[in-house]
Amino acid sequence: MKLIAAGREDAATLAAIHATSFPPGAAWDADTFETLLELDGTFALRAGERGFILARQTLDEAEILTLAVDPAARREGIGAALVATALATVGAAGAKAMFLEVAEANEAAIYLYASAGFTKIGLRRDYYAPGMHALAMRHSLDIK
Ligand SMILES: CC(C)(COP(=O)(O)OP(=O)(O)OC[C@H]1O[C@@H](n2cnc3c(N)ncnc32)[C@H](O)[C@@H]1OP(=O)(O)O)[C@@H](O)C(=O)NCCC(=O)NCCS
Repeated sequence: MKLIAAGREDAATLAAIHATSFPPGAAWDADTFETLLELDGTFALRAGERGFILARQTLDEAEILTLAVDPAARREGIGAALVATALATVGAAGAKAMFLEVAEANEAAIYLYASAGFTKIGLRRDYYAPGMHALAMRHSLDIK
């Protein structure tokens, strides 16, 4: 599977994929992706127009900001490949750990992250909305 770096010029493509995967109130628009991709340490990888991951690295810590795969292309390993490549990218750039938040009801994503090696480190109550909690997860990249 070919994954390529996505830049500001891909903001509309990322927004279109995001809209296939999140409800209207939670989907991010192209302006949001453009703004995020201008920030130092933020990068995106995409699998054509079928999926992408957006992540950020600050010194030795990295974070997955969002991940989406078009419903028509799910369960083909795209999400796993995006997460594995993002982990390898930040690890090669000196990150010692990668973090993320995921809705505690989002079983598909939690299975994916757990199978990629992330472990639960806590619960952020009401993170998305009242009653919608997030699991915080961490993947160590410290290879001492
Ligand atoms: C979560 C998401 C990115 C997974 O993408 P995907 O390309 O379908 O994932 P993969 O095919 O790489 O799946 C890898 C593994 O994750 C787990 N998994 C993925 N989807 C699953 C599901 N619906 N139910 C249970 N496990 C699932 C499985 O262990 C799977 O391995 P397997 O297919 O060999 O059993 C996709 O469902 C999505 O875009 N969801 C909506 C947006 C979202 O929730 N993003 C994450 C927010 S933090």
